Amino acid sequence: MDANAEKLLDAIPKALYFDDKDRFFILDQTKLPTQSIFEEQKSLEQVYESIYFLKVRGAPAIGIAGAYGLVISLKDSTHLSLDEFLKLTYKNAEYLNSSRPTAVNLSWALKKLSLVATNFPKDGTSKELYNLLKTEAIAIHNSDIATCRAIGEYGSKLIGKGDGVLTLCNAGALATGGIGTALAPMYVAWSSGLRFSAYSSETRPLLQGARITCWELNKFGIDTTMIADSVSSYLMSLGRVNLIIVGADRVANNGDAANKIGTSSLAINAAHYGVPFYIACPYSTIDTASKSGDDIVVEERGSEELIYIKGQQIAPKDIKVFNPAFDVTDHSMIAGFITEKGIIRPPYDFSRS
Ligand code: MRU
Repeated sequence: MDANAEKLLDAIPKALYFDDKDRFFILDQTKLPTQSIFEEQKSLEQVYESIYFLKVRGAPAIGIAGAYGLVISLKDSTHLSLDEFLKLTYKNAEYLNSSRPTAVNLSWALKKLSLVATNFPKDGTSKELYNLLKTEAIAIHNSDIATCRAIGEYGSKLIGKGDGVLTLCNAGALATGGIGTALAPMYVAWSSGLRFSAYSSETRPLLQGARITCWELNKFGIDTTMIADSVSSYLMSLGRVNLIIVGADRVANNGDAANKIGTSSLAINAAHYGVPFYIACPYSTIDTASKSGDDIVVEERGSEELIYIKGQQIAPKDIKVFNPAFDVTDHSMIAGFITEKGIIRPPYDFSRS
């Protein structure tokens, strides 16, 4: 890739950063696309709320946010004895892990940090352990940057000149530490000069597709069209979609994949119209402990997310609401998983790779 293309990729917006004064900032994504504001995270509770209320969201990004969140929650406690510091580390990790249940990256990252604590020598100091935890959190972040880039390179080969590429929700830079998962192939292909059309499904109820994916892709200059979620089947019937790429929050060992609500209906429609349906995700999203989708906990969120749009009431306040944040797409409908190790094709058995 030439230097110009590299420069373009470097300029893609970031979801979060950790600075050399051990301060942790996230881009408050609830304010997009009208405001782009970084908010410093100063406490455990604040990070918990930022994850719960989707100020930071997307599976890899919440994993990284969990790791940095744990670090900043321990920053002012290095005066404690090692024993007390360890107890606090596990307690805070457990609390952060309870903020959202479906994306496995959160527990994956927190487990990595907890393991550093468990393996830490008993004669070491709390300050030394704090520094090791910080190093591990930064390593998780850096590794995600490289992973996204690899996903982008592998996935870009699937996009042809003039293709229509449809995505749902936001699995872009703002859902990760790098250039995204599902959007990474688009970024790499476009920056190398390939021209295609992107379609972004708005993603009710929280509109991550409209507010975040459209913002990201538009900013990058990719030819992007927004559709209402209900349009995808008709769009495919018109032959305007050649490829679908979405992200994932947790992938079971057999390839069943949890992702934003609406993904499964997209895959079913894609099968009907013969459109290849791909999931782009890092290995950190693959949970071999979940044998199939039946083992995946799907987060259910509050009724207010459907009854109100930006504070405006759009349905009776006392209406019954069912608001699952994710659904599970059957592995039989997934043409492949675009990962940092290449494109994995069926039959899926991730415990072997
Ligand atoms: O509820 P969200 O916005 O966190 O849901 C995000 C998604 O469903 C993404 O597609 C998934 O986390 C993959 S992000 C690379």
